[in-house]
Amino acid sequence: ISLKPYNTFGIDVKARHFAEVTSLDELREVLKNSYASELFILGGGSNMLLTKDVQKTVVYINLKGIEILEERENDVLVKAMAGENWHEFVLYCIDHSFGGLENLSLIPGKVGTAPIQNIGAYGVELKDSFESCTTLDVQTLQLRTFTREECRFGYRDSVFKNEAKGRYIITSVNFRLSKKNHRLNTSYGSIDQFLEEKGIKTPTIASVSEAVISIRQSKLPDPKELGNSGSFFKNPVVSKEKLEKLHKEFPEAPFYVIDEQQVKIPAGWLIDRAGLKGYREGDAGVHTKQALVLVNYGNATGQDILKLAEKIQQKIWDMFGIEISPEVNII
Ligand code: EPU
Repeated sequence: ISLKPYNTFGIDVKARHFAEVTSLDELREVLKNSYASELFILGGGSNMLLTKDVQKTVVYINLKGIEILEERENDVLVKAMAGENWHEFVLYCIDHSFGGLENLSLIPGKVGTAPIQNIGAYGVELKDSFESCTTLDVQTLQLRTFTREECRFGYRDSVFKNEAKGRYIITSVNFRLSKKNHRLNTSYGSIDQFLEEKGIKTPTIASVSEAVISIRQSKLPDPKELGNSGSFFKNPVVSKEKLEKLHKEFPEAPFYVIDEQQVKIPAGWLIDRAGLKGYREGDAGVHTKQALVLVNYGNATGQDILKLAEKIQQKIWDMFGIEISPEVNII
């Protein structure tokens, strides 16, 4: 079976076997009958670049359901199953006036894969509302809960990309969301600007979501129209000294302060400044409106995109002496 409909890059590779599971029992059944090393766990397929056929059993996690577990005066605990579409879940929260995820509107993917890379946008990260997640241990077939501490979230990072990689399948995620006195985060420049232009003086959860949707739509390609995986690279973290050096040649280089010693440089700016925005090789290209996003104009292979990515990394290294690394998983 072709995995083209199952990855947002729209790469046409084949899976040796494909199993869709819609319940925990079905998932256990599949796991019982195969070695963990022969499985390939697939969620939304929104953060991966498939470069060859998958000689494994692809397990498509399609567990559904949203449930309010606990309701208190100021907040709620909401459980969403791994196969729920991320944005639809965000919209559910907005409909119920549950605050916390509005800045994460319109991120492609599914609930179950969101914690793996601690998805983040517009000043908010998943970890800010995350309470815990339930996982299935592929070796023991037992359920195991991970608390927020145990997930060890970092910038586009968690335990599931490190020590726990390949061992646990996230089956559901619990979020602690606010009902009252929710503090909206509109600090990310263009959100405030959007609200001001619309004449919105007292923003709500819904209007912040609307702002984020509008900003994203203006810069980021819709995977349904143009294959992509969002930001292809992580924003590189460099020392203050490195930044000073960079500023000597490029005084306009933007940066975000991380701590006393380190800053993050937007990879999108570096790629843009290197003249690669809109650059195209066959069907593999750099998005015309946001240089951080690589796109598939139709029939690019994973190898085509990978080659382009490597060319970009090399050029950034040559020009700025800065190493950028992929955010997406290359398979
Ligand atoms: N920039 C350019 N040219 C470009 C792109 C960006 O000069 O082509 C400059 C912008 O002008 C701005 C800076 O680079 O000064 C940062 O750009 P932007 O605000 O678009 O954000 P980003 O750093 O490129 C990050 C996340 C996005 C997230 C946005 C908003 C990473 C790797 N990416 O992008 O996440 O939506 O911030 O919070 O951290 C994703 O992970 O898939 C993703 C889209």
